[in-house]
Amino acid sequence: MAEIHIRNTNERIQGEENVRAFLDSQEVLYEHWNPGKLPAELQEKFVLSDEEKAQVLATFDEDIRDLADRRGYKVWDLITLSDATPNLDELLKKFESVHTHTEDEVRAITAGKGIFIIKGTDDVGYFDVELEAGDVISVPEHKPHFFTLMDNRQIVAVRLFIETEGWIAHPFADAAFAK
Ligand SMILES: [Fe+2]
Repeated sequence: MAEIHIRNTNERIQGEENVRAFLDSQEVLYEHWNPGKLPAELQEKFVLSDEEKAQVLATFDEDIRDLADRRGYKVWDLITLSDATPNLDELLKKFESVHTHTEDEVRAITAGKGIFIIKGTDDVGYFDVELEAGDVISVPEHKPHFFTLMDNRQIVAVRLFIETEGWIAHPFADAAFAK
C-alpha cells in the first residue's frame, strides 16, 4: 500500500484511507488493484519477454479498461525497469528533474516499487508517494513532479495515455525544490 512522506515536515502518512484522503486533498488520484492476480512467477520478475508483458496486461485487462473508460485513456503499455535495463543510471538521472505534462501521468504498479515526488499545495510543499505492487496513481496535468525508483531499483508498471504526445516532459525550474 502506498505511503506518503512530506518533505518539509518529515511527516509520514500510512494506511489506505489516510493516504487516499491526503492524495484527494492534493488532487492526485489513488486506486488499488489486486497484485495477487498475477501468477506467482511474474510477481517478482522484472525482465519480461513480449509474451510475458502481454500476459501481465491480460491479467489486469478488466482493471485497465475500467480505469480507461472512466477517465478517457485510449492507449496503454507496460514498462519494466531494473538493473538489467541498459543505462539505468543515466535514465534515472534524466527522470529525476521536476517537470509537467499537458495530460495526467498514470501508473499502475504491477510488480516492484517506485516513487513519485510531487509539488503539493503551498501549505504542504513537495511530498513523496512511495508505491508498491497494486498501487495506481494519476498525477494531474500541469502538476510538477518526477518519478524514480526506490532502493530495490525494480519496477513493472502499466502506463495509460489519452494521447502519447501529452506525455512530453516540460522542465519545471523551481527554487523551492531541494533534493
Ligand atoms: Fe512525468
